[in-house]
Amino acid sequence: MDWGECEHLIDFYHAISWPQLSYVAENEKGRIVGYVLAKMEEEPNGPPHGHITSLSVMRNYRRLGLAEKLMRQSQRAMIDAFDAKYVSLHVRMNNLAAFKLYQNNLKYSVHGIEEGYYADGEDAYSMRLDLVQPSTNKH
Ligand SMILES: CC(C)(COP(=O)(O)OP(=O)(O)OC[C@H]1O[C@@H](n2cnc3c(N)ncnc32)[C@H](O)[C@@H]1OP(=O)(O)O)[C@@H](O)C(=O)NCCC(=O)NCCS
Repeated sequence: MDWGECEHLIDFYHAISWPQLSYVAENEKGRIVGYVLAKMEEEPNGPPHGHITSLSVMRNYRRLGLAEKLMRQSQRAMIDAFDAKYVSLHVRMNNLAAFKLYQNNLKYSVHGIEEGYYADGEDAYSMRLDLVQPSTNKH
């Protein structure tokens, strides 16, 4: 099994383990044009928190606000279903579109830099967003 196949299996595992947290966007014909996959981190110590595993929107459907909407739905489900206190993710340092989405639109902060995080050796920003609980929630 190569790394790509392995990644698909991991994504599948997340989708069936935490189905509440993953969403798809469909076009008018019911074809999937975007998705977000997420999971809960299973650490014995520390507050419960979600993690965004994967996010993608097909090229022809970008800049329509789909990714932001998918992210907000997943974040909402993390609070409602698992009482998550914050959400984390990794993003390639050269991925400006995704970085702007997370930092500018969704208000994530850079939590650190993980050197050589990706299989090709590229570094990642580790980012986090505190999740506001239901009574005053805006996320
Ligand atoms: C990153 C990605 C998911 C964004 O999807 P999208 O549906 O186009 O994003 P949205 O329409 O919700 O955009 C929200 C914000 O993201 C930022 N953004 C998105 N695409 C951008 C681009 N090409 N250049 C600069 N900023 C961009 C903007 O701040 C945008 O807000 P604005 O339109 O008000 O300026 C999409 O480009 C993609 O699938 N890329 C390849 C996969 C990927 O990089 N996934 C993320 C891995 S961490």
